[in-house]
Amino acid sequence: MARRRRKPERRDNPHLDESAQVRDFYAHPVGRDVIDKLLLQQGHSNRWVDNPIVGRLRLKTVAWLARPFTGPNLVTTLVKLVNAEPEAPDPGTGAPEPTWWKQAAFYQIFPRSFADSNGDGIGDLGGLLARLDYLAELGIDCVWLSPIYDSPNEDGGYDVRDYRAVMTEMGTLEDLDAVIAGCHARGMRIILDLVVNHTSDQHEWFQKALADPDGPYGDYYFLLPPDPDDPEQPPNNWKSAFSGPAWRWLPEVERWVLHLFAPSQPDLNWENPRVRDEVIDLCRWWFDRGIDGFRMDVINFISKTPGLPDGHDFVGDMVQVAGVEHYFYGPRLHEFLRELRERAFDPPGGTPKLMVGETPGVGVETGRLLTGADRGELDLIFSFDHLESGSNTRYDDYRYDLELYKRYLIDYQERLGSNDWLTLFFENHDNPRMISKVNPDPQHRVALGKLLGTLLLTMRGTPFIYQGQELAGINEPFESLDELRDVESHNRYRTLVEEGKSEDEAWAQVLTSSRDHSRIPMRWEPGPGSGFTTGTPWLIGREDPGFSVAEQEDDTESVLSHYRRLLALRRRSTALRLGDVEFVDADRSGYFAWFRTTGAERFFVQLNLTDAPLDIPDADPAAELVLASHGAGQTGTLAPYESRVYSLRPNTPATGD
Ligand code: NOJ
Repeated sequence: MARRRRKPERRDNPHLDESAQVRDFYAHPVGRDVIDKLLLQQGHSNRWVDNPIVGRLRLKTVAWLARPFTGPNLVTTLVKLVNAEPEAPDPGTGAPEPTWWKQAAFYQIFPRSFADSNGDGIGDLGGLLARLDYLAELGIDCVWLSPIYDSPNEDGGYDVRDYRAVMTEMGTLEDLDAVIAGCHARGMRIILDLVVNHTSDQHEWFQKALADPDGPYGDYYFLLPPDPDDPEQPPNNWKSAFSGPAWRWLPEVERWVLHLFAPSQPDLNWENPRVRDEVIDLCRWWFDRGIDGFRMDVINFISKTPGLPDGHDFVGDMVQVAGVEHYFYGPRLHEFLRELRERAFDPPGGTPKLMVGETPGVGVETGRLLTGADRGELDLIFSFDHLESGSNTRYDDYRYDLELYKRYLIDYQERLGSNDWLTLFFENHDNPRMISKVNPDPQHRVALGKLLGTLLLTMRGTPFIYQGQELAGINEPFESLDELRDVESHNRYRTLVEEGKSEDEAWAQVLTSSRDHSRIPMRWEPGPGSGFTTGTPWLIGREDPGFSVAEQEDDTESVLSHYRRLLALRRRSTALRLGDVEFVDADRSGYFAWFRTTGAERFFVQLNLTDAPLDIPDADPAAELVLASHGAGQTGTLAPYESRVYSLRPNTPATGD
């Protein structure tokens, strides 16, 4: 189904200056996301802005009041950022278009840790091929593979050396063809990971740039000469997401090179049309091999403010990455995405391919501006605000508050129109396991695993399950830094110690946040190697009795069986895939309940978000319990983390209220 083409550029948002009021700023889509993010980081609710006194403050007054805390020019920086976006999201009318990807359940695979077929301890395509039946039987509609390309693997394959070759340890292009065909033969689609904000420094383009920095490849990257007055000083104050400056000195060519991630991951310069042509060519090449789309790694980072100005210190301190306001929603982002769609993903007359953007820092309104059905840009985004609860980030040791998530989700859903659609996910290869964040007490593990699955698969939006989530995977009890493989964890540990933290403090922080928690080998069977490998796994994963596929698949009470039932129910119910969502009793703390309805079907979902029993209104006697984490349960009460799904006749209330 071809996507509606975009209307010519409009100016919907007034141009703001510093005499504008806070409420004008908040009425702007970018302004709203920025304020929401600032308040979230400070642990405040956005109700602050509704306060008439705050709302009427002029921006210049805010600048003056905040200056002692934020330093100069914060408001000027933010006003510039919002004025760069002239358009507002168009909510659309009628029902959302029922595209396949709105209805599909996705499953993310981190191939290095999924299944090893040759005993070298590294997951590979042969292993994956042999497990496709597992995914089909689970009820998956589309598989997403994290990178499988040729790579020196300094960042889990997100450092690509050759976009058209498969990493030797994982197999060959022919093996990948077999996986693509194997998915399609089982009625599943498959998307790959497109990592084109940066390459590996071993990529041929970078090697050619090094050989001749003034030649045609020099401009594929941001290679900048030193300032003659201060040659030791990098070109700006931007920081890498993996600690330290975002600049690496290249003595062989006497230039600095920009890397927003590891020093071995130089950023591509998308201002150069030849870079964009290269990306378009490689996407087409993969589409010709039969894939159905891409998850697009940090795709919102591809457009940088020209001249690469310094980032504001306060913003940098707040989000722990200086410079981010100059690239998380850059000036040519919309244009670059539209070009990609028109020339590669959705050319006239072709079958559109899926574009799922990974977009750190993007909020609800900017997300709508990147995915609106009328805009010709992305289809879906991964926004990450919900993975951080209150003012906490992944690096903090804290208990994730599901009540805050409930409020976030209700607000998010209420702001979407028929042009918009959201992804639902709790886990991926970059985050610790959700069960461990919410409540690490083992007595709640199964109930919580089922609750998260129920939420994911009955809420409105496109669900993404991360491998092992369907088994109630939890964080790994790593014992020391040398058990970890992740570059981010190692860099962070080093930086924390350099900053004066004790080794124990640094380890505690790294242990809380490490991405390796989600990258441990998949547990297929009990016993050494977990059925993942006959050799020594590349990353340690201890035995976890009761939580392997073999132990759970024949147990009707297991989390895996619950996921299977949920996926089957979702597949046969239009209301659960596409129906409206209507929240009930939203103010009842710890209780999360909603209806999903289409003309002919109606479901009612109830969750207890707490670790204590919760009294609830009696269910309508006509409501039929179709799926439950605790069997028939007790009338009038939900057990800790209990979840229930009822089927109703349309137009009936679910509770006796
Ligand atoms: C986001 C990916 O999900 C993460 O794993 C990777 O390290 C960075 N992008 C850099 O590619």
